[in-house]
Amino acid sequence: MLNIGVLISGRGSNLQALIDASECGDIPAKISIVISNKSDAYGLERAKKHNIPAVFINPRDFSDKNSYERKIVETLKQYNVGLVCLAGYMKIVGEVILTEYKGKMINIHPSLLPKYPGLHAQKQALEDKAKVSGATVHFVDEGCDTGSIILQAEVPVLENDTEDSLSARILEQEHKIYPEAVRLFVEGKVKF
Ligand code: GRF
Repeated sequence: MLNIGVLISGRGSNLQALIDASECGDIPAKISIVISNKSDAYGLERAKKHNIPAVFINPRDFSDKNSYERKIVETLKQYNVGLVCLAGYMKIVGEVILTEYKGKMINIHPSLLPKYPGLHAQKQALEDKAKVSGATVHFVDEGCDTGSIILQAEVPVLENDTEDSLSARILEQEHKIYPEAVRLFVEGKVKF
């Protein structure tokens, strides 16, 4: 069975969706390791509740980005990871991780890419007075949210939406399309 490594920085609700899908057999793969760059990421607790190894790797313990990423790659390799899922991982992935996992690393983003890449995608949609927004699962490449798209889900942007209300509506879709995209990858139905 394919081993999945998940990189997080915070809440971990997408991680939870992946764990649940894996446990109920919707994803024929195992979440084998969760890595966070933040010590207080709630996703670490979520993983532990499901007996999934979860580690905080502190960027401050490393002299530069490359050595930090080498530690991440080493950890992923220890668990024989064949797919890396970024789930609210707030660091830009650099060349060390990409060299090892390009084509085997995917991300979820809260907009219909290529619209609104980067931070605060929901706020960008509101400021742009968009009528629709949504979520995208895509392969990770060198750019910021530029990799090829695997799945998208659309949601309406309502007139009285706030960043919070729009984020919540999008998040509901994220939790559906992320496990679905992982399933497509694991079953060999999408390739980089
Ligand atoms: C999600 O909105 C995801 O699209 C973005 O960061 C957020 C992470 O949320 N990349 P969570 O930690 O999965 O709850």
